[in-house]
Amino acid sequence: MPGTTAAPRIVVTGATGAVGRHVAQLLPADADVRLFVRDVAKARRMGLPGELVQGDHQDRPDLDRALRGADAVFVVTANPLRPADDENILAAARAGGVRRAVKLSWLGVADPAADGLIARWNRDAEALLRASGLDWTVLRMRTPMSNALAWAPSIRGEGVVRALGGAARSACVDPRDVAAVAVGALTGPGHAGRTYALTGPAPISVREQVRELSRVLRRPIGFEELTADQALARWRERLPEPIARALLEVAERRSTGASEHGEGDVEAVTGRPPASFATWAADHGPHFG
Ligand SMILES: NC(=O)c1ccc[n+]([C@@H]2O[C@H](COP(=O)([O-])OP(=O)(O)OC[C@H]3O[C@@H](n4cnc5c(N)ncnc54)[C@H](OP(=O)(O)O)[C@@H]3O)[C@@H](O)[C@H]2O)c1
Repeated sequence: MPGTTAAPRIVVTGATGAVGRHVAQLLPADADVRLFVRDVAKARRMGLPGELVQGDHQDRPDLDRALRGADAVFVVTANPLRPADDENILAAARAGGVRRAVKLSWLGVADPAADGLIARWNRDAEALLRASGLDWTVLRMRTPMSNALAWAPSIRGEGVVRALGGAARSACVDPRDVAAVAVGALTGPGHAGRTYALTGPAPISVREQVRELSRVLRRPIGFEELTADQALARWRERLPEPIARALLEVAERRSTGASEHGEGDVEAVTGRPPASFATWAADHGPHFG
């Protein structure tokens, strides 16, 4: 019909992840949203709005199905040992006629001294995106506040958090703020060729986060410092050796103050200041029982 504009078709990869789930929820109701997920049942349990397309980042035909005819894609990859995932998504996007790609990355890449597996993988993925021929936007995220959800079982069961680097501070960011920036970049003008640094309002240590959760839950929560060996042993239980070692390296850099610096891009893009950990904790109290 003359004068009408078709709803933008937006594909969200990593839609069940820490940021992707909020991107799915925040996209405008008139957008034609496809969520690329490897576990459809999980996406259904989360009640995510949008058409679910099942697939794996390794599988080009799955990605081709999801991306054909789309306008924009939110790119989230999660395995530093599989750098081809980013390449697959971008190749499928180009083949499918997608114009715009917004990529979740890590603010640690801005630190020239960070040269471990996770920094190299994110830097390479950013470079691929910038060379992709698509209108690109990079979202460099500081630690998402939602990483604290990993403490939920021991808080519920024993009233304690065990972690490495209790005194290390990070300007951690509410993933909902990162998602709000992503939605702006996926749907609005003026974001092509931009790299945003996304942090929370102020650095906060793990011990301070635990105190905040204790305040929200109105009961004491203890903190027990892990040694590097203990932390490594825990990561090894669920992750391949190179990733476990890379996480230790990131934690060691964080303890030098490398993650403390806050940046203003959440407010610059969304028009409102980033949420504090206190706000995030108040909104997520029920997850900690
Ligand atoms: N986590 C952090 O502390 C942190 C901090 C700063 C920056 N970042 C950056 O954020 C990005 C995402 O990392 P993350 O680990 O935090 O992500 P995440 O929130 O765990 O989300 C990963 C998403 O990708 C999906 N996924 C994983 N492998 C897949 C595959 N082979 N095929 C299809 N979908 C797949 C996951 O699905 P399932 O739900 O099925 O697993 C999930 O939806 C990375 O670039 C990372 O460096 C992370």
